[in-house]
Amino acid sequence: MTHIAVLGSTNMDLVTYVEKAPHRGETVTGREFRTIPGGKGANQAIAAARAGATVSMIGAVGNDGFGTRLRSTLEHSGVTTDHLRTIEGPSGTAHIVVDDEGGNAIVVIPGANGTVDHLAPGDEGLIASADALLLQLEIPLAAVLAGARTARAHGVRTILTPAPARPLPPELLDATDLLVPNEHEAATLTGRSDPFTAGAALLDRIPRVVITLGAAGSVYLTRDAEPLAVPAPHVTAVDSTGAGDTYVGALAVALGEERPIREAMAWAATAAALSVQREGASASMPYRSEIEARYTS
Ligand code: RIB
Ligand code: NA
Repeated sequence: MTHIAVLGSTNMDLVTYVEKAPHRGETVTGREFRTIPGGKGANQAIAAARAGATVSMIGAVGNDGFGTRLRSTLEHSGVTTDHLRTIEGPSGTAHIVVDDEGGNAIVVIPGANGTVDHLAPGDEGLIASADALLLQLEIPLAAVLAGARTARAHGVRTILTPAPARPLPPELLDATDLLVPNEHEAATLTGRSDPFTAGAALLDRIPRVVITLGAAGSVYLTRDAEPLAVPAPHVTAVDSTGAGDTYVGALAVALGEERPIREAMAWAATAAALSVQREGASASMPYRSEIEARYTS
């Protein structure tokens, strides 16, 4: 089995479902409120575990009720949480408004995730034993960089999701084997809005880039071949929260199984398409059997 380590965030998602998100100064009545485990790190861990990998999560939760639930949700999906610390203080939260088109707006309060600014004893050994390390940007950059460098030093593949979007230090890009931005993140990193142009610019520092384009699928760019565009299944989105994380988790599993890139991208897009048809981030992520049932190469 592919062994994946995830170094990243856990958040309790406080999700409000409403026909149309309010503008500043406006009050609207929503339909439903739910608390659903999320956070980009935990989401990718759960997506990868459900897709069929052995997964360990490195990060932190708070010593509150959310922290207890975040940890048990990971464990129920088969994610090992020995390297998930419990710290004094609140867990991370994400305040999410989902509209009737399945789109969202999110404010993240880091909470415990903000304390993950270094690797703890034992984290290095865990990373060294993995086939791939998944990274995102919801914990302090110092830890992301330390994780990427540690993985590199041990020949472990690093897969970075540069979200939430922000400019990145060149050292981090240099320690990344595969970058998976969406089109907005790719534009933030390069100043180019066209995904193909942005992707080409990213190849100056990173050998392989997959840009996700939502319903339009994804594009793979590498230095020695033409860009490869892979479509996504057509579905009606109910809640796209965590779709990108589902894609990355499933992609990492498929690549760990040495499936060809086109197949890995189509398989990941199938997983993401399944997730957008259900509410919530982690709660909507498909198991391997569901992906296999829907996947067409
Ligand atoms: O990528 C989706 C995630 O972003 C949500 O689960 C939320 O926690 C935010 O961090
Ligand atoms: Na979803």
